Amino acid sequence: MSDTDVIIIGAGASGLMCAIEAGKRGRKVLVLDHANKAGKKILMSGGGRCNFTNYSIEPGNYISHNPHFCKSALSRYTQWDFLALIGRYQIPFHERDHGQLFCNDSAKDILELLLAECNKVGVVVQLNTHIDSVERLTDLFHLKTNNGNFSCQSLVIATGGLSIPKMGATPLGYKIAEQFGIKVLPTSAALVPFTLQPEDKEKFSALSGIAVPCVVSNNRQSFSENVLFTHRGLSGPAILQISSYWRAGEEIVINLLPQVNLETELKSKRQQKVKNKLKTILEGYLPKRLVSSFLSDDLLERSLQDLSDKQIQRVADQLHCWTIKPNGTEGYRTAEVTSGGVDCDAVSSKTMESKQVQGLYFVGEVLDVTGWLGGYNFQWAWSSAWCAGQYC
Ligand code: FDA
Repeated sequence: MSDTDVIIIGAGASGLMCAIEAGKRGRKVLVLDHANKAGKKILMSGGGRCNFTNYSIEPGNYISHNPHFCKSALSRYTQWDFLALIGRYQIPFHERDHGQLFCNDSAKDILELLLAECNKVGVVVQLNTHIDSVERLTDLFHLKTNNGNFSCQSLVIATGGLSIPKMGATPLGYKIAEQFGIKVLPTSAALVPFTLQPEDKEKFSALSGIAVPCVVSNNRQSFSENVLFTHRGLSGPAILQISSYWRAGEEIVINLLPQVNLETELKSKRQQKVKNKLKTILEGYLPKRLVSSFLSDDLLERSLQDLSDKQIQRVADQLHCWTIKPNGTEGYRTAEVTSGGVDCDAVSSKTMESKQVQGLYFVGEVLDVTGWLGGYNFQWAWSSAWCAGQYC
């Protein structure tokens, strides 16, 4: 049995950040991961450029049964703290829409930074290690693995969520929580594309590849970004965002033309005696294929002059308020994150330590904190892990 101060299960974003901070305090830290490489999700994130944080991080960008839980960590280790770290390593980055910050070169820069910081403070990262069991006897946690048995004073669970099982996602973190009597809230795939009902899928499959700026809403949230039609259904940032607020069986409303008031526009053109066909006019705003999928040929072939107020209003409604009930989501196979997870009420928002089990900590995505698309999930990983690292 090999003794150490802190064992962290999971060498992803939060596990490595926590290891660095605990290491800085002089704690002897061992990070265990079953994968053959640390930080696989960091490497694949942001299309290989890792959207590592956002200029604007607010608690309102996170979903949780306890919306107050994330506030303390996000205010104690902020996006500016992470940017200062990036600055020390001179990692070049750029801003995209909505304050999203990406590496200029490669997500590898972020992983190398984390591993270099781990190295500086003597953190040991042991890969290809499968956890067979975790037990707590007297004041210590005992872990049996395929690479030997270990014991530690503090055990940090940084196993992430269930998305992309191919990348090594497992429910181990939830199982450990449950083993110690800690509540785990139901999980679901979030930031995930929608699949469509068979008839909608058939109708819209011809639009595959088209992206349009839209406003996508349900009765809880609204996002203004692109919607992408795919051969499976709907994707793009606006869809991924609303998927985190969607429940099976619900409808969503998509405004395909948020930048104009179509009813006013068409009526004013009709008054100006514009004689074009409706089709020609609409194709000035939206891709041709999309226009013909949404409206009948009969209507599209008519001159604007022949359309009644009621018909114009109906056309506008169809494009401004496209109401659709997704069939489901693509699930964990393609989801960026998992919503739900370890109940935040069971964990201290200051230390990330379990309120019931002394020495047991939860950080990152395994907790019931789900960020929006845009660097929010990594910031949660950094912030929550930094906090735990001060105490574990
Ligand atoms: P993370 O998943 O990073 O790490 C968990 C670790 O635990 C892994 O190394 C895993 O191998 C290990 N583990 C799991 N089960 C284990 C077991 N049984 N035994 C041992 N080890 C185990 N977010 C963002 O803010 N900006 C972005 O650009 C993106 N992009 C993005 C793209 C894609 C394709 C995905 C799937 C996700 C994103 N994300 C993102 C989300 C982001 O990657 C995610 O929220 C963080 O990586 C979460 O960090 P954690 O450390 O909690 O888990």
